[in-house]
Amino acid sequence: LAVLGGRRGACGGGGLSALPGPWALPLVGGLPPMLHPELPLHLLELARRYGPVYRLRFGAKDVVVLNSVDSIRQALTQKWSDFAGRPSSFVADLISLGGHDLSLGDFTPGWRLQRKVAHSALARAQRLQLDPVLGAQAAALCQVFRSYGGAAVDVAQDFSLQTCRTICAMAFGPMMPDAAATRDIHDCITELVALWGRGAVRALDALPLLRVFPSGALRRLLRQVRFRDAFVRAQIQRHQESLRPECARDMVDHMLQLLEERRGAGGGGDPTAEGGLTPEHVHMALVDLFIGGTETTAALLTWAVAFLLHHPQVQDGIHAELQRVLGPERPPSYGDRDRLPLLSATISETLRLRPVAPLALPHRTTRDTSLLGFTIPKGTTVIPNLFAAHHDKGTWSRPLEFRPERFLEADDPRLAQRNLVPFSCGARACLGETLARAEIFVFLGHVLREFRLEPPAPGALPSLRGLYGTVVRCPPFRVRVLPRGPLPEPPVTP
Ligand code: HEM
Repeated sequence: LAVLGGRRGACGGGGLSALPGPWALPLVGGLPPMLHPELPLHLLELARRYGPVYRLRFGAKDVVVLNSVDSIRQALTQKWSDFAGRPSSFVADLISLGGHDLSLGDFTPGWRLQRKVAHSALARAQRLQLDPVLGAQAAALCQVFRSYGGAAVDVAQDFSLQTCRTICAMAFGPMMPDAAATRDIHDCITELVALWGRGAVRALDALPLLRVFPSGALRRLLRQVRFRDAFVRAQIQRHQESLRPECARDMVDHMLQLLEERRGAGGGGDPTAEGGLTPEHVHMALVDLFIGGTETTAALLTWAVAFLLHHPQVQDGIHAELQRVLGPERPPSYGDRDRLPLLSATISETLRLRPVAPLALPHRTTRDTSLLGFTIPKGTTVIPNLFAAHHDKGTWSRPLEFRPERFLEADDPRLAQRNLVPFSCGARACLGETLARAEIFVFLGHVLREFRLEPPAPGALPSLRGLYGTVVRCPPFRVRVLPRGPLPEPPVTP
């Protein structure tokens, strides 16, 4: 581990000072700090020693870690273009049709257009389909829960499959693949994400020598990538065959139309050229909506169930609120969120305590810049520690406690919301924030309206200690999902 030195005013910013950081990093459990198994917690610990912004040495590189909401907002929002890059990654390039990924792509003109197109397609689909899709998917989820007849079950898989179906319905509209194909792509995506998180795969980025002898994990990862790409290609082809210029049926149609428009305008082809948008960009944008849209939202829903098992009075409060505001007949839709403050506050508190992407995705500075008076050179990897920002004692009172009421009681609840950054902020903020928030609200509202969540045996409560990867998950647990009253009529599935 190298000793870190400072660069006073390295980029001509007179008066700027070197970033603090551990001069000689201790080995933690035999591992360098960046490989700590509970990295967000460990980085938070370091912030207590070194302040909200510090740097670490990882391999040959400096990594700057932001641990407070102010430093995160200042970097990613106020200086958004300085911090909008992504570090290059051998593995990401290998599995993204040669570096056409949306989430991991660097801040280039081609990437900006890719994000704009994906954003426009998702926003349009949300405008047209959000309520019916979420209503149908939430009803289907409740039907699955009903079928358990009160047995103790692990609901994480149900959430994961249902969130994948939601993104399938949004992306493919009336041409949504059948249940078996949706399950196959769900299983492929979850396996792919798990393999990608494996040490043997991650190490390929840091240790090029390992690339000579691909591990079993990498071979399995590439197999899943081939399956994923065949699936996405088949969906795009089906859409292309029946595409009508005057109407876009769903997100794929919309993105294909925008691609055609760019081609017509002479902007297609070279992805590095201003305005370059390629079919690979559309393909990988779809892939990222599936990856981003499945495991994160499902993990958050699972965390909400775990916290509610620990806090049955909050469940009862939300059920009472749903009955009082909407009556027994009407299930909630996202438009009801301001009328259901306890449900909304419970979701905010779950997002605060377990921001499911706790370290966001790594950013990279696109030019020499500065933050809170510190110099940060171009090309530095920057990690926004959202978990630390949500556990900052200077911002939140009793930050370790689950207290949804903090979002109701705050002198200014909007201030509490401002300090909440689970979707990050700025140019690389989560593209699916609206969909995720709506899905969590509608799914949880449907479930808590109809069911009481109980542990499998008195006192058998789930562990709340996170399993940390790119996504922070709740350790597997079982729950009894018990109908609160007579079963409603089976829903009509569209
Ligand atoms: C990126 C959080 C759900 C699509 C991100 C980032 C975070 C995040 C923290 C990284 C932002 C950064 O690098 O600064 C979450 C959480 C979710 C969620 C907490 C649910 C609870 C979704 C959904 C979708 C989605 C439902 C898609 C439908 C994406 C995409 C990116 C992203 C495409 C990459 C954006 C870019 O690099 O420009 N998300 N996300 N996410 N998310 Fe989400």
